[in-house]
Amino acid sequence: MQRLRKANDGLIGELRGPSDKSITHRALILGALAKGQTIIKNPLMSADITSTMNALRPLGVDFNVDSYGTIYVDSPGMDNFKRPENLVLDMGNSGTSTRLLVGVFAGLNLPVTIVGDSSLSMRPMQRVINPLTALGAEIQSIDGHLPLKIVRGIQHQPINFVLPLGSAQVKNAVLLAGLVAGVTTTITDSFGTRDHTEQMLPDFGITVKREGDTFRIPGGQIIHITELEVPADISAAAFWLISGMIVPKSVIKLEKVNINKTRAGILKAIHQMGAKFKLEKLVAAEPMANIIIRYQKKLKAINIGSNEVPSMIDELPIIALAATQANGKTIISGAQELAVKETNRITTVTNELLKLGADITATKDGFIINGPTKLVVKRPTIVNGHGDHRIAMMLGIAALITDGEVNLADPDSVGISYPTFFEDLEHFMK
Ligand code: S3P
Repeated sequence: MQRLRKANDGLIGELRGPSDKSITHRALILGALAKGQTIIKNPLMSADITSTMNALRPLGVDFNVDSYGTIYVDSPGMDNFKRPENLVLDMGNSGTSTRLLVGVFAGLNLPVTIVGDSSLSMRPMQRVINPLTALGAEIQSIDGHLPLKIVRGIQHQPINFVLPLGSAQVKNAVLLAGLVAGVTTTITDSFGTRDHTEQMLPDFGITVKREGDTFRIPGGQIIHITELEVPADISAAAFWLISGMIVPKSVIKLEKVNINKTRAGILKAIHQMGAKFKLEKLVAAEPMANIIIRYQKKLKAINIGSNEVPSMIDELPIIALAATQANGKTIISGAQELAVKETNRITTVTNELLKLGADITATKDGFIINGPTKLVVKRPTIVNGHGDHRIAMMLGIAALITDGEVNLADPDSVGISYPTFFEDLEHFMK
């Protein structure tokens, strides 16, 4: 249990926040596939990232971290991976590790069993089982849930895949299976899900041909070692962007934030809400910017629909909080994927914000939020992220503008993606 603080003097300061979780997972996986040493500067270090490294170690991949936090990935290369028998891999809480690595194992034709914690065990896996099965793999599950048992890998034939739902993890399961199997892989993503793998592959010497929504990775290419640097995660920066915007007197500068357009929907959303912020664009492989944001008293309600959802999927809980402070009715729809995240985020966001006095209604695919509402609790109140890191952090920010005593039941869950969240909050409150 942790007592959450109210911010009376605003949040002030600069921060280079934690590095991008999605990019770090991908860099570790591609580094493990390449033979030799890949160097990853500024990776994220968090529980989910540990899950990915732990899953790759039994194949003979070594991960060493130096005092600057750089990870050295030393791998025999995917053609020389160990193939231990009866391998059981625990993915903890990490959906990304699970879904991306299922693709890798199916491409390698490597029999493994995948297990995870209680939240991960509730999450749908049929979405990766179906396309991989259509490619010839055999994957057993309990009604589409963990444990997953990969019995046989995919056939070595060209892949043509049209992404049926707005999930980057599903796209990557197929992409990585095809890459590892060495077959020409063509994928159409009309949802615009995060494209970090497609962006990163050329660094590993892999040609990707893009045309509109479709990209093709010609088969038979060799994955080469590389050196890369991970930018700050916009999904973590989102908590400070919103606190900067809604906590009176705040001025926050966030450094080197990844603003890849498949991820930066939150910037569009807060612009429409009337936020005062400025971008200083930086030159880098993935687009990056310093972002300066300050408190804005008058915010406007907005509509967010299915087209925008993939570019801000992980930010919707904190955007929902922001909407409680905006004038009018905010409608977030087309976000049914929220129901199958680390928790059912439609329910957890709604129930926890209701405890603080928000005017929020859950719908089948999002929220309806009326604002502005003064958040207040009349008696000491326990809010609960239900083990979901992004809900716990959203509640930590909500408490900054809530009158009364608010306690958080599960502060440790922030370690999934942002182990120093509460320290960074202290940094801005000094
Ligand atoms: C991720 C994709 C998204 C996102 C998750 C990370 C990724 O999930 O919510 O936090 O790194 O590919 P979905 O693909 O299920 O939308």
